[in-house]
Amino acid sequence: MLQYAYIFTMSTSETTHTRNNKNIPAFKKNIRNFYRKNKREMPWRNTHDPYKILVSEVMLQQTQVSRVLKKYPQFIQAFPSPRVLAKTPLKRILSVWQGMGYNRRAIALKKIADKIMKEYSGVVPNDPVILEKFPGIGKNTAGAIIAFAFNKPAVFIETNIRRVFIYHFFKHRSEVSDKEILTLVEKTLDKKNPREWYYALMDYGAMLVRKVTNPNRRSKYYTKQKPFKGSNREVRGLIIQVLLENKSLSIKKFKEKINRPELPQNINDLVHEGFLKKRGTLYTLAR
Ligand code: ADE
Repeated sequence: MLQYAYIFTMSTSETTHTRNNKNIPAFKKNIRNFYRKNKREMPWRNTHDPYKILVSEVMLQQTQVSRVLKKYPQFIQAFPSPRVLAKTPLKRILSVWQGMGYNRRAIALKKIADKIMKEYSGVVPNDPVILEKFPGIGKNTAGAIIAFAFNKPAVFIETNIRRVFIYHFFKHRSEVSDKEILTLVEKTLDKKNPREWYYALMDYGAMLVRKVTNPNRRSKYYTKQKPFKGSNREVRGLIIQVLLENKSLSIKKFKEKINRPELPQNINDLVHEGFLKKRGTLYTLAR
């Protein structure tokens, strides 16, 4: 009954805020205490090199930490700067990227490196408004780069952060929007040391997913990822893989190697997205 009284007298956001504000100091203390005892070591947390942090954040967008921990050192060793990445052929970048999935991020990284070299004299810009317009980087990745590389109080959300806020501040809600969460991210942010505070939130969120039913199910945007086996994602990965092993292939040769009805459509998509080039009847990886 009390619930109804609230709804009739206040808007949803007012109810949320009134309840939430008094919890903020306890919330911050809780997250900090957890982090003091449970912080995770990650190589991209031991650098302030904006390029390396940018690479790590693009990798972490869609790949789990355990896999990025393996690939990040290899990628950084092969391409230690935007200068090196920009002059490397895409094929070589894709061969190092293998195993990460979502290959379009490898193309985006190459385009980013080109842009940094051509338009920013080889220096990653420290302005979120510029960064968020880079290929493959939206508002949230831009915010993460700004917070981690420059320790500036950018407000952003990612999957672990979303989980923490839904768990603590939206206990009886579903369909929680990122807008609602971002208001609280801003309110709780440690403006003096945003870098460590965001690490703490992420580590807490990674712990939560192992301890409780995923709070992100109550996010407005929650969708379960479809199985990789049998997906277009799998076919796309296979196409790139066979082209790394064979310089060029006709559709007939492709079909001998990848026996899947979705093959032609996926080849076409990859051509349109700039991964592949078609010369006559032969497909190659774009340079
Ligand atoms: N540390 C820095 N960025 C991170 C991310 N996106 N996920 C997990 N840990 C991180």
